[in-house]
Amino acid sequence: MGDRPYTVLSCGVSLDGYLDSATGQRLLLSNDADFDRVDEVRAASDAIMVGAGTVRRDDPALLVRSAERQRRRVERGATATPVKVTVTAKGDLDPAAHFFTTGHCEKLVYCAAPTADQTLEALSGLATVIDGGPEVTMHAISEDLHRRGVRRLMVEGGGTIHTQFLTEGVADELQMAVAPLFVGDSRAPRFVGDGEFRWCAEHRAALIEVRPIGDVVLLRYALSERAPESA
Ligand SMILES: NC(=O)c1ccc[n+]([C@@H]2O[C@H](COP(=O)([O-])OP(=O)(O)OC[C@H]3O[C@@H](n4cnc5c(N)ncnc54)[C@H](OP(=O)(O)O)[C@@H]3O)[C@@H](O)[C@H]2O)c1
Repeated sequence: MGDRPYTVLSCGVSLDGYLDSATGQRLLLSNDADFDRVDEVRAASDAIMVGAGTVRRDDPALLVRSAERQRRRVERGATATPVKVTVTAKGDLDPAAHFFTTGHCEKLVYCAAPTADQTLEALSGLATVIDGGPEVTMHAISEDLHRRGVRRLMVEGGGTIHTQFLTEGVADELQMAVAPLFVGDSRAPRFVGDGEFRWCAEHRAALIEVRPIGDVVLLRYALSERAPESA
């Protein structure tokens, strides 16, 4: 396998392991202090990735919010906010989404071959569309991002994306904020779907840190030998 960025999977989950509600209303799981922690992690990243489902459902801007953190990035020669990355098979992405319209940074869209041409046309001038071949893998995206200079990647979901980074073995660290609430509806999206995960009863993940942040708890797990042993 070629080089790939140090990859942090970041998510907020309910006590029953959901990423969101099943209703049309977006569920806020974290508190302000935890959103600020996430902003710090973003500021330390070269690229931030979400799946096309999250772009459609949440319409996130994926920017570093703190002006001070933006300033420090620019001081060290980086853009104020990291490269944004998404992936799609259908190519159904709204050019008016915040992903494309906010931030003076590069926007990369990895697209499965059958819809690459139409996506390129729809997003012309807004993003770089990369033909990922018939089947796009997180492995191939990781290697391509590394070739483009990304050394630290933050993956912010959703569950379909987290599942693939975990099952393909291309994640280094998990940062999970557990919120004190239940969703209680199996139609809601879970942190991960079915798959073969290397962390199981015989092979438990190593805990790096547990940090209470107001009413949420941050759990950090090492997913590769590149992750730190402790905070
Ligand atoms: N709590 C949190 O931390 C958090 C963070 C992020 C998101 N969320 C929630 O998670 C939910 C969305 O999760 P999700 O699993 O439905 O969506 P997702 O993981 O954001 O995106 C899934 C989509 O990404 C594209 N995709 C994924 N793998 C691909 C591959 N190998 N090749 C090509 N395209 C690929 C497909 O897009 P196309 O359909 O366009 O082909 C697929 O439908 C939302 O409810 C959101 O609010 C929660």
